[in-house]
Amino acid sequence: MATILGIESSCDDTAAAVLRDGHLLSSMIANQEVHRKYGGVVPELASRAHQQNIIPVVDIALKQAGVTSNDIDAVAFTRGPGLLGSLLVGTSFAKGFALSRHIPLIEIHHLQAHILVHFIKNEEGEDRYPQFPFLCLLVSGGHTQLVLVRDHLDMEIIGKTIDDAAGEAFDKSAKLMDLPYPGGPVIDKLAREGNPDRFTFSKPRIAGLDYSFSGLKTSFLYFLRDELKRDEDFIVKNKADLAASLQRTIIEILMDKLVKASKKTGVSEIALAGGVSANSGLRDAINAEGKKRKWNVYIPKFSYTTDNAAMIAITGYYKYLKGEFTDQTTVPRARMGF
Ligand code: KG4
Ligand code: ZN
Repeated sequence: MATILGIESSCDDTAAAVLRDGHLLSSMIANQEVHRKYGGVVPELASRAHQQNIIPVVDIALKQAGVTSNDIDAVAFTRGPGLLGSLLVGTSFAKGFALSRHIPLIEIHHLQAHILVHFIKNEEGEDRYPQFPFLCLLVSGGHTQLVLVRDHLDMEIIGKTIDDAAGEAFDKSAKLMDLPYPGGPVIDKLAREGNPDRFTFSKPRIAGLDYSFSGLKTSFLYFLRDELKRDEDFIVKNKADLAASLQRTIIEILMDKLVKASKKTGVSEIALAGGVSANSGLRDAINAEGKKRKWNVYIPKFSYTTDNAAMIAITGYYKYLKGEFTDQTTVPRARMGF
């Protein structure tokens, strides 16, 4: 039996989770409201908030799991990629915890962890996991990648964004519409009331499996600027249609390369992961495409889409089984490959 404590602090959420043999016992997240008024994450404030939150968050996670620190067999933490000052808090905490309890320390790649949420054992007992090899469309605030997953710890990025991430496309466009941060969930909600065919925005023409979202953002910016010259209330009057049309464009860009990747690799086990996988339009689109193309589609629970520590703990569990431990000299990495 292995009980793993997972720690996540790569961006603006301080999270801790306890997992026993793949079953989640608890998962705690402290969101940092402080960034909202700045319209984006302020790294220095994030790091300070992590320092305040980390001990209470771990404490509650242990209590909710019904365990004490003596029951923990290993501690897994996000080493990167992310904001250095934020990562440093989780890394230092995990090192101290491992050292004081004489247990293994396990470093985790944040993006790999987003993908492995699919392997957290289901409470309802209905186990349905992607079969290897599977393709994962990983869409978050900082990354957009197509990943070929051959095994839990054997992944290859076969396509990625050359500029903005899908989450950034949502967040930056939302900012242009004066919507609160993070814009993704707000656009999602507005889009449900709007007409996705009302406006068209430019889509990238990039060969292969790479993505680009900066052109869409610019096209959206110029479009709004021109319309606002004619009518200063344009955004207010057309909020829902703008959100729906923008969201549809982002989804079409994402789906286009996913279909290509499936054809190219011959893989029809398709998973979705990352913060943007909470998007209802994207979830519907991947399900619809899956039906049409006879894919087996895997969509994470809402609570596993955005940053959490359950994903860190499950990845830690697979590394624990393989004895992939790290030592006290490890340092966080803002950028990090698989
Ligand atoms: O994975 P995540 O929590 O953090 C990173 O590792 O980046 O992703 C955060 C991103 C943000 O850009 C946020 O706007 C987006 O996920 N997001 C959404 C939705 N919920 C979160 N985007 C579109 N629709 C949503 N429902
Ligand atoms: Zn993330």
